[in-house]
Amino acid sequence: MASPHRRRLRPALVFTAVGVLVCAGCVRPAGGARTEEPNKVTVACGATEEWCAAMTAAFTAKTGIAAEFVRLSSGEAQARILAARDNPEFDVWHGGPADGYAAAVGHGLLERYVSPNAADIPARYKDADGRWTGVYVGVLGFCDNTRVLGEKRVQAPRSWQSLLDPALKQNVGIAHPVTSGTAYTALWTQVTLNGGAADAALRYMKQLHPNVLQYSKSGAAPAQQVARGEIGVGVVFSHDCVATREQGFTDLTVTFPTEGTGYEVGGVALIKGGPSPAAAKKYIDWALTPAAQEIGPTVRSYQAPTNPKAKRSDKAVDLSAVKLIDYDAAAAGALKSDLIRRFDAEVAQAPKS
Ligand code: F6P
Repeated sequence: MASPHRRRLRPALVFTAVGVLVCAGCVRPAGGARTEEPNKVTVACGATEEWCAAMTAAFTAKTGIAAEFVRLSSGEAQARILAARDNPEFDVWHGGPADGYAAAVGHGLLERYVSPNAADIPARYKDADGRWTGVYVGVLGFCDNTRVLGEKRVQAPRSWQSLLDPALKQNVGIAHPVTSGTAYTALWTQVTLNGGAADAALRYMKQLHPNVLQYSKSGAAPAQQVARGEIGVGVVFSHDCVATREQGFTDLTVTFPTEGTGYEVGGVALIKGGPSPAAAKKYIDWALTPAAQEIGPTVRSYQAPTNPKAKRSDKAVDLSAVKLIDYDAAAAGALKSDLIRRFDAEVAQAPKS
């Protein structure tokens, strides 16, 4: 577990006027005795390691509540929260695309919590039922290494169709949607571009398969492969390409597909039955503030904030300048387990021609 902030504050033990010992900050679990609620929040964190560390540290500095995190890709987070549903290890899920949250809602893993600060977040960036609230927006694009593509005499792709060019054989990187929310965004983008037809989306992915060098675990990994020149193009959230370029890889450029592209609303949510619900709610309240949403760019995370009062970095994608599809996170979440299972069986394991 990275960056633990272990300052534990003990709840106060006080005697009431009638001499009964009570515990401020205690909780009563479903059929049991009172236990102390730790003054600590444990976060399943879905963005970059640096973002997760900066967020939890800033929360602790602001509130005095200790915060720990584990960085997990979207599918990993969902699987881990599901596996521990009878004895949850996490209080909050923070970061990662909302369709993963919608899938978790389907499994009954998230508790409804409408933070007072959610009033500032536009309706299109939050669950109508209050199970998750958006904290950032990221847009799917192509991360191109112009040097590698130039050597192959291939133009940087500007459409999903041109990504299928046989000249890009083994030169495309994309993650695996079983683990990666980025890759699931790409898969659902194809479903949407094909009028909701899952078969057509999987057919597209099968056509792309010979061009894919490998399916990585995390969504941002292909940007690193592109930077190292192992491949010419990565299908990633554009901010991950911008962040990698800032590390000195100046051959990188971002292009967006002309047919339209998908986007993520990165979420925050309360995990049902977590050990510290009171601290968790404070964390969620804080994550929705402009101050919290302005932390990203300080650690090269250039997603656009969902809170209109937060300052948007000029390195963040201009959402009005890109052709975005109508991305329905609830529908994407509802079909997620079926689609990723089919992707694994029908695409990832298919032989490469
Ligand atoms: O690297 C940051 C980021 O792109 C987030 O914007 C996004 O929510 C997350 O990674 C998705 O990660 P993964 O694809 O590994 O689930």
